[in-house]
Amino acid sequence: MKRLLAFGLSLLLAFGAANGILAQEHDKFEVGQGTFLLNGKPFVIKAAEVHYPRIPEPYWEHRIEMCKALGMNTLCLYVFWNLHEPSPGQFDFSGNNDIARFCRLAQKHGMYVIVRPGPYVCAEWEMGGLPWWLLKKDDVRLRTLDPYYMERVGIFMKEVGRQLADLQVSRGGNIIMVQVENEYGSYGTDKPYVSAIRDLVRASGFTDVPLFQCDWSSNFTNNALDDLLWTVNFGTGANIDEQFRKLKSLRPDTPLMCSEFWSGWFDHWGRKHETRDAATMVSGIKDMLDRGISFSLYMTHGGTTFGWWGGANNPAYSAMCSSYDYDAPISEAGWTTRKYFKLRDLLQSYLPAGETLSEPPAPIPVIEVPAITRWQVAPLFDNLPAPKQTEDIRPMEQFDQGWGTILYRTTLKDDISGTLHIDEVHDWAQVFADGRLLGRLDRRQGEFTLPLKGTLKKGTRLDILVEAMGRVNFDKSIHDRKGITRRVEVLSGDTARELKGWTVYNLPPFHDFVSHRNYRPGKADGMPAYYRATFKLDRPGDTFLDMRTWGKGMVWVNGHALGRFWEIGPQQTLYMPGCWLKKGENEIIVLDLKGPAETCVAGLATPILDQLRVKAPETHRKDGQNLKLDGETPVHTGTFASGNGWQEVKFDHPVEGRFFCLDATSNYDGSNIAAIAELDVLGADGKPLSREHWTVVYADSEETRSGNRTADKVYDLQESTFWQTVDNTAYPHQLVIDLGRNCRVTGFRMLPRAEAGAPGQVKDYRIYVKAKDFAY
Ligand code: GLA
Ligand code: CA
Repeated sequence: MKRLLAFGLSLLLAFGAANGILAQEHDKFEVGQGTFLLNGKPFVIKAAEVHYPRIPEPYWEHRIEMCKALGMNTLCLYVFWNLHEPSPGQFDFSGNNDIARFCRLAQKHGMYVIVRPGPYVCAEWEMGGLPWWLLKKDDVRLRTLDPYYMERVGIFMKEVGRQLADLQVSRGGNIIMVQVENEYGSYGTDKPYVSAIRDLVRASGFTDVPLFQCDWSSNFTNNALDDLLWTVNFGTGANIDEQFRKLKSLRPDTPLMCSEFWSGWFDHWGRKHETRDAATMVSGIKDMLDRGISFSLYMTHGGTTFGWWGGANNPAYSAMCSSYDYDAPISEAGWTTRKYFKLRDLLQSYLPAGETLSEPPAPIPVIEVPAITRWQVAPLFDNLPAPKQTEDIRPMEQFDQGWGTILYRTTLKDDISGTLHIDEVHDWAQVFADGRLLGRLDRRQGEFTLPLKGTLKKGTRLDILVEAMGRVNFDKSIHDRKGITRRVEVLSGDTARELKGWTVYNLPPFHDFVSHRNYRPGKADGMPAYYRATFKLDRPGDTFLDMRTWGKGMVWVNGHALGRFWEIGPQQTLYMPGCWLKKGENEIIVLDLKGPAETCVAGLATPILDQLRVKAPETHRKDGQNLKLDGETPVHTGTFASGNGWQEVKFDHPVEGRFFCLDATSNYDGSNIAAIAELDVLGADGKPLSREHWTVVYADSEETRSGNRTADKVYDLQESTFWQTVDNTAYPHQLVIDLGRNCRVTGFRMLPRAEAGAPGQVKDYRIYVKAKDFAY
């Protein structure tokens, strides 16, 4: 590390010296036999994944020092394309987006950097980092060789190269590796595409350091390129030997690296707060260190997904909270935690004799802010911007709007009655008739229809106000257009009549827009509105804005978009960095689309991230329900093999049905537990059916105390998440899935939970498939 600093310095001093001479003095990072080599010596990467936009720029250095004191030698970061190119060809690498500065700060503290420039990054980030404006092209095929998409990737990558290529270690900087694409195996199989991305990364100047791919152990071979380094991603609890078995057999001499070891997990609105056990995380890292395996701890510090940058998963559509605390060793606000010190002790114990870790930097001061109760209000409907006209419904992107809320308004040309079908709501809609709320539709719940009570008369003003939550950041549904995507129709009997002739209002989430509404004293009476207040501080400091009395919306303070709030939780406070507050007067703006119970915001000294307030039950079994299988005939009876990895089962004959039941009758370890990570049902062509419209009808038992182990985890596309039954409920265990429509079913695939020595591996089972739901 000293060398790294010294050479940075020598570069400055040797101004004017021949490049050739200097080049010899710079660090050299290589892939060696079974190990990485730094200047010819074996080197284990201990990387901390942190994301520069999730940390306010004035705190970057503090967080870097925290990672250093934890015992890490490298920082690993994504580059978020959509942040840097807000509109085509317009680039921003300044302030909080100055990635080169972030790397130089890391170098100042003797840390190396791994760069992951995407173009797709996942990361629970809006659209996985891809810019929304790509969706203005109707037929764009993201993450493929689509010419328009690839052209845009090329332009972006070149800009990344301009910012960072000269910071490769070979040129006196600290970048030691660069990633190509991101977990492409969980998107598709397309080596020509991944090769083209590799070529663009190289062409942008990343020629001097190893390029690598990261994927899951189950699918990394699908897109693995011969000339790149292969690494695998997995989470706390995984069995290290098992995860690397295949990679080792294919490339016995490659250095091993887990490029994402998940320290915790991310939170969704309306779902339980996620945590992962500290001791289990630390023991996974110990297992890797004992084997000389390099790792990047994702996340070491998650931080905050400020503003509108949170992503979503699908199916079922589920948007991410603003807090990206991740249950990581360094908390959202940059605090040390129990996990931090446990890990630090471990990393300290692996240092060469005589070396010690630096002390963590002093914590950032925390303040409390007394309740802010005097607000001015700007009702949304009295503050609409200039309208646009459109005959047909079109998504938000077609009106040049990327984020925020959009209002579709029409005047009824005839009386209507029946059901309003909004196809589809992306993502949360409120329907008003002449200013009166008729109902709300939530995409997360698959709510796209609203039964009308009585008749709406000709001449009624119909308003559909749609809030876009995060764009999906994972799998094919990243093609996630916002607003209303296709049409609005009235269903009555067998007829469907489309409503046409709309006026559209774009309500973006920019401070410039929200601060220029017409604020006045008063109330908004449960209608959507912007609120503004000022508050005075003697001394700024970090605080957590308590949004518990508010409905659903966004907050801005002194021009900074802090993020979203939603009464359902689990997140109830918003992290307010002190560096964005000032001594004297501060301004706060709240957009509440639903309407507050009370207009009151206080700054708390600690966050509330785990207060779920949804009325719906956390589990899928209703009180008193008991699946009745007597009298039903299984379509297949079998025994799973023991061990990790996918298992595929073909039925003797295809069957027709919509309700798929797995009845697990015994397991391998003698415990009560059943645990399944992923389940696919095979269709007529033998390939997995789309899981887009799947719902869990029934699960006899779901563990939600020690973790989020609900049954929908079998089709969330994540191999590290799983359905697990509660340990005091005996076998058999049953899961019933509604496939959304009648299908021809020829078999299924099942991935057991992949964790080291964990109980729950199902042995014997029976499968039932029926056109109608089962009896309970
Ligand atoms: C994957 C992705 C990351 C992130 C994690 C989950 O590994 O590569 O970007 O989405 O999952 O947090
Ligand atoms: Ca899963």
